Amino acid sequence: MKDLTPDKSDLDPIEIATRDEIESLQLTRLQWSLRHAYDNVAMFKDRFDAAGVHPDDLKSLKDLAKFPFTYKDDLRANYPFGLFAVSRQQIMRIHASSGTTGKPTVVGYTARDVSTWADLMARSLRASGVRPGDLVHNAYGYGLFTGGLGAHYGIERLGCTVIPISGGQTERQVNLINDFRPDAIMVTPSYMLNVLEQFHKAGLDPRTCSLQVGIFGAEPWTNAMRAEVEEAFDMHAVDIYGLSEIMGPGVANECVETKDGLHIWEDHFYPEIIDPESGAVLEDGEMGELVFTTLTKEGLPMIRYRTRDLTRLMPGSARSMRRMEKITGRSDDMIILRGVNVFPTQIEEQVMATGGIAPHFQIELYKAGRMDAMRVHVEATPEAADDASRDAAARMLSKRIKDIVGVSTEIMIADPGGVARSEGKAKRVVDNRSKA
Ligand code: DLL
Repeated sequence: MKDLTPDKSDLDPIEIATRDEIESLQLTRLQWSLRHAYDNVAMFKDRFDAAGVHPDDLKSLKDLAKFPFTYKDDLRANYPFGLFAVSRQQIMRIHASSGTTGKPTVVGYTARDVSTWADLMARSLRASGVRPGDLVHNAYGYGLFTGGLGAHYGIERLGCTVIPISGGQTERQVNLINDFRPDAIMVTPSYMLNVLEQFHKAGLDPRTCSLQVGIFGAEPWTNAMRAEVEEAFDMHAVDIYGLSEIMGPGVANECVETKDGLHIWEDHFYPEIIDPESGAVLEDGEMGELVFTTLTKEGLPMIRYRTRDLTRLMPGSARSMRRMEKITGRSDDMIILRGVNVFPTQIEEQVMATGGIAPHFQIELYKAGRMDAMRVHVEATPEAADDASRDAAARMLSKRIKDIVGVSTEIMIADPGGVARSEGKAKRVVDNRSKA
């Protein structure tokens, strides 16, 4: 793999500023953001008043802990535009996330917000090893989802050429990668596995393709998956994180030279880790729920937004801004099986470590009598599709999950191609517990 480390002189000065400089900028911006939310959004005014706090009470960054949290349900309750802090006419762009139940969550951006987003996506691309002039294949979905357009504007802002292919039509994706020879690809990690499979089907060697780096996010993925994709394509695989409520992709990104967790772009987003039960702020290094406060957002400021994503904060490395560890999962996706907490990423690690099965998987929850039970659906690789190899792989995977994750599971090994493929965010858990 090529060394893609960017030149220090190309970075935004704040990326390598001192902690004092970063914190002083954060304090000024946080004071502005609290006041902006309080003065222009009825819900924030009511919440702050009810909690007996006022934006003037924020004298240091630590004072943020006095302010109330914001939840995804608050966006639903104020559907569609009730949390916007500017008039609808000042909103240049709307995005929305579908959500699994109820109304979508709707977000809005002013012209300056869209421009900041493009800057931060450009910064994320540069951290990933992309340079001005590169050709970037953007397979994140275009439309209301923030992935496609969010990446698109950043690719253009960095001075690259964008291929706005969006998700789906995998055969066409591979043909175009082959013909256009892009330097970088942006796509969900689960869909990248689909693309990999299509390379093999088309009789192409992915290691000889033009891609130097893949920028993968929008869903949890493991270092085991990174190793698989890097080996298969002979390219760097870098993690990108974001969420619509805070901006979209580009809230945090790994650096290609270190790949040691995602640097949070702290000049625009203030992170906290809290105990999800008590809401208490935890020290850096402790595992908990990630909470974000926007520092510059005009259209939709968010104060202490509960992401439900579980991770921990670590000191800066390649940049001065703090890192978050790769996300273990969302608290909503945590499965509690006979008292043991299980995340789909833990199952992913074991699937990747087991020979004879492909890296696609889905977890099914069901009732065995009155008890909850878990089945892991995987599929045989074409070379190991005979009965004896499947039995051996099933026994090995079941043992690994029992020994390392601590739960008993039933393993179902389908024929090659038998597990549902993702075209965007993979659906890792199917809950059939209410079906007797
Ligand atoms: O998924 C934004 C995005 C697009 C990020 C493209 C990266 C690339 P939402 O649809 O609002 O926005 O979903 C946000 O997805 O709270 C996490 O649970 C999950 N997520 C996003 N990135 C990662 C990641 C986009 N790198 C939700 N690792 C977040 C783990 C991620 N989970």
